[in-house]
Amino acid sequence: MDPAAPTRRHVTQGLLQTAATLGFLRLALGSNAFAAAVKPLTEAWAGGVADLARDFRQRSLSPLQWQQAIAGLNATVPIHELLSYIDFARLKTALESRGPGEHFERVRLPPLETSGQRIWTAIFILPQGDAIPPHAHNNLATAHLVLQGRFRARTFDRVEDAPGRMVLKPNMDAVFHVGETVSMSDDCDNAHWFIAENSPVFTFDVSLRSPDLRQYQNPTDRDGRIFIAPADGRRNDGLVEAAVIDYGTSLSRFGKAANFLMYR
Ligand SMILES: [Fe+2]
Repeated sequence: MDPAAPTRRHVTQGLLQTAATLGFLRLALGSNAFAAAVKPLTEAWAGGVADLARDFRQRSLSPLQWQQAIAGLNATVPIHELLSYIDFARLKTALESRGPGEHFERVRLPPLETSGQRIWTAIFILPQGDAIPPHAHNNLATAHLVLQGRFRARTFDRVEDAPGRMVLKPNMDAVFHVGETVSMSDDCDNAHWFIAENSPVFTFDVSLRSPDLRQYQNPTDRDGRIFIAPADGRRNDGLVEAAVIDYGTSLSRFGKAANFLMYR
C-alpha cells in the first residue's frame, strides 16, 4: 500500500466537499485540480489513448485491434491508486439524485482534449439491479474500464443488418471486475447488454467514432444506440434474430437485471 494514499485521499475528500457546494460532479471530475492530482497516474495512459485513436482513424489499427490495444493499455493503469481519488459514495448519491437508471458524467482529461483526436470520456453509473438494455452502434468503438462493482456483459457480433432487424452471433456472457475492460466495435461485440447484478457498477468509458467502415440499415436512436430485442432461443445455425425497438419499449422489456437473467 502506498503510505501517501491516505493523505491524498484526505485532500481529495476536501476538494470534493468543496466542489459539492458548487456543483459536485463537473468540478470534482473536470477541474484542473482533479486532473493535476491524477496526472502522474494517467499521463502515460492518456498519451496511449490518443495514439490509439490516431492509429484507429488512420486505419492502421482495425476496430478489433483497437479493442485489444485499449484493453491492454487500461490494464497498465494503477487502478487502485487512481480509485483512491474518487469518492464513490458521493458520486453515487449525486448521480442517483438525477433519477432512476444509468447516468454518466463527462470527464475531460487535458491530454485527450489537446490531442487533436475527438475522444469522448465519461464515468458511468449503473444502479444495482438495473440494466443497460441490449443495443448496437453504428461505426463506434467503446471501452468500459470497471472502476467499481461486478459488470456482467452479454455480447453479440452483428452479422446481418436489415431495416428493422439484425442477426446476432452470441459471443460472450461474462462478469468483468475492477480493473478489467469490456470493449466493442463494428468488428466485435457490436451488440451488447449489461447489468449491475449485485451492486452498483461504475465504469470509465472511452468512445471514438470509427471511420465509416460499414453502411448500416438501422439509424441510431437515443445516445447513439440502436435498441434491439434479441429473440428468445437461437436459430438452428446458432444465431439470434433481433428486432429493432424504441427506447421506451427497450426500457420496459430489458431495463432490469432480472430481464437479463431470465433470457435464454
Ligand atoms: Fe453500447
